[in-house]
Formats: sequence, C-alpha cells, structure tokens
Amino acid sequence: MIISQITLLNFRNHKKRNFSFSPDLTIVVGKNTSGKTNLMEAVYLLSTARSFRHGRDYQTITFNREMARIKGLVGTDDETKELEITLTRGEVTGIKTPLKKFTINGVSKRSIDFVGILPSVLFWPEDMELVTGSPTIRRHYLDSVLIQIDREYRRTLNSYERALRQRNKLLEAIRENQADRQQLLFWDQLLIKQGNYLTGKREEFISSVNETELPALLKTGAKYMLYYDKSIISHLRFDQLRPAEIASAVTLVGPHRDDMIFKIRNPDIKSEENETEFENQNNYKDLSLYGSRGEQRLAVLWLKLSELRYMQKETGERAVLLLDDIFSELDHEHREIIFKILPDQQSILTVTDKHLIPEERFRQAKVIELSGEYE
Ligand SMILES: Nc1ncnc2c1ncn2[C@@H]1O[C@H](COP(=O)(O)OP(=O)(O)OP(=O)(O)O)[C@@H](O)[C@H]1O
Ligand SMILES: [Mg+2]
Repeated sequence: MIISQITLLNFRNHKKRNFSFSPDLTIVVGKNTSGKTNLMEAVYLLSTARSFRHGRDYQTITFNREMARIKGLVGTDDETKELEITLTRGEVTGIKTPLKKFTINGVSKRSIDFVGILPSVLFWPEDMELVTGSPTIRRHYLDSVLIQIDREYRRTLNSYERALRQRNKLLEAIRENQADRQQLLFWDQLLIKQGNYLTGKREEFISSVNETELPALLKTGAKYMLYYDKSIISHLRFDQLRPAEIASAVTLVGPHRDDMIFKIRNPDIKSEENETEFENQNNYKDLSLYGSRGEQRLAVLWLKLSELRYMQKETGERAVLLLDDIFSELDHEHREIIFKILPDQQSILTVTDKHLIPEERFRQAKVIELSGEYE
C-alpha cells in the first residue's frame, strides 16, 4: 500500500498544504521548525489513528483554530481510497463535536476499521527511548505495531482497556464496602481472556524480532535479543493478589504491566553450543544498563527492520517507511544499511542537512523543500 498525496488543513504549522509523494522515495528537506516532523506525524495518524508524539490529539490542531483535517490518497494501481481524519477540540462554532472522526471515501468509520489500511513503520530519534525509557513507551510501541496488523488486536485492546477501568472502579468500591467481592469474577474472566490474546500476539511479534538477523552489511559481532517480561494474568494470580488489589484499587497483573528488555550478548562468551536456556539468559546483558549509545541505536534499527519484515509477513503488504531526521544520528555504516532497504518499499525521509544524503539518492527521489513559512 502506498500514499500518493496528503492534504493538511490546520494541522500544526501546516495551515493549508498539499504534498504528493513518490511511490518509491521522497526526501523532505527543511530547516528546524519547518514542519518536517509534523508532516510525518500526519502520515502516521492516517496509518494508526494516533500520534507518535506525547500529548493529546487536539494539540495537533493549529493554534487558535477549531478543527484540523488530514486527507490522504492511498492505494494500489487498481484501487485508491481517500482516508480522512477530522480533529476538533470538542466544539466547532459552539456546537459539540467528536474529538476525532474518520472517513474512508467519505463514509464514516470506526477507528478499528480505519487503522491498518496504510501500514507504516516509523523511525525517529526519540525511538532511542524504546531502549532506555519507561515500560509505557515499550507497551505503546508493541500496540502501535500490532494494531496495524490485526483487527482483533485493535478490538481486544479497546475492550481490555475499558474492562480494566471498570475493574479498578469495582476494586475501589469493594474497598469502600460498597460492592461485593463476588462481582470481581466477571471482570477477572473477561480480563484473563482478553489479556491472554494480547499477550499471545505480543509474544509472536517478539519471537519474530528475535529470529531477525542483523544485516550482513554490519561488521559488528553483536547479537541482540528482546526479552518479553510478561505480566502473567490468571485466576491464580488474581487470587494471590486479591488483598493488595483491593487495598490499592489497581489491577496489578496483565498486559498493561508488560515490559520488554533489550539485551546484548556478552562478547566475551564465545560458544553457543549446548547452552541451556538459563545460561543463555545469563550471557545477555541489559542494553539500557550496559550498552553504548551506538549499540542502543543499532538495537533500535534491528527492531525497525524486524518490524518491516513482520508487517510484510503478516499482512502480505509492504509498510510505508517513515524516517524522520535519523541520519544525523547514524554513522556511515548504518546510513548505508538504511539506503539499502529504502527501495524495498515506499519510503519518506526527512533531513535538515542535504549533505547527509548522497547526491545520487536525490536524483532518484522526489524532493520536497519545506520553506517553514506558515501558509
Ligand atoms: N498545534 C500547533 N499549531 C501551530 N504550530 C505548531 C503546533 N504544534 C507545533 N507547532 C509548530 O510547528 C513547527 C514545526 O514543528 P516540527 O516538529 O514539524 O519541525 P521540524 O521541521 O521537524 O523541526 P526539527 O528539524 O527541529 O525537528 C514548530 O515551530 C512547532 O512549534
Ligand atoms: Mg523534526
């Protein structure tokens, strides 16, 4: 699936703009604050229905405007679709409105039917936080991959999150002697069923990452693994945690407490033969604690390459690759890896400094120069 055009209305600093993309490579060049990340954010929103930046959706609406609109033309040679998102602050000209509205070819859709049409993989400098940041960032990441691939995951995630809020309210009511413990059973069962589905899918993705080899181009002998630190959800665990859950009015186990840890193999350990699972675990070190910045960056690159591969395997389609401002952080060798994978799918990349990209790439690409002036 490719995106051929995007129209932005009151979206961050883009008041009214239309961009067209090459089916192969588009390079967006612009100085700081010209709106490069904002453009990538708009494409990503069409893809996942949510932003990759922190904050609320309405913050993407241009200051002092009531409504933003992103319209994208996506498709294949045989079939094109117009995807549209309208964002408001909850009110337009004094009339109550939904915060987010989705349409495909002018027909209203629910977000679960909108997401996944234009699969994308984003790589931007903040992704380093996947290694070093909080577990919330990693869970959010896992969801952002899986919601694009699996409609059932989208549906289950929405209903799990709703059920979790309900269960926490009930725990509070039990603590205040306003509800009976027996009522928990219904929510326990629901959360276990849905939680296990989410966990299973996360597990599949993480195993697939672990099966992905680093590109042969890299001379480094490093070997990475991604460890799924799963918060197992079961009746037994709920029973064990009952007093603590009631006291805190918080559900203490389940995928909302999952984490994943990037590990790197200790280079001093040579042999991998006859290694037990336990020894194998011990031979890997936590990358957030021991890894150099370069090793952490390489792990993120490895993750992103795995993600591209996984999306293609699961959907049969190639995701759009969105590379926002990553070249300044990568050395020559790593840039070469990126250049090598660019032709495998539609790619849109942004740079502030043209010199980071070899001239012949510009000749093959469509170039968008962002002036940064508000239009
Ligand atoms: N809701 C909004 N309304 C208007 N302008 C906004 C809004 N949100 C952000 N901006 C502005 O948009 C401008 C461009 O931001 P963006 O992050 O896209 O820049 P960039 O080209 O990626 O810059 P850099 O090279 O520094 O990453 C910034 O000046 C930012 O303050
Ligand atoms: Mg930027």
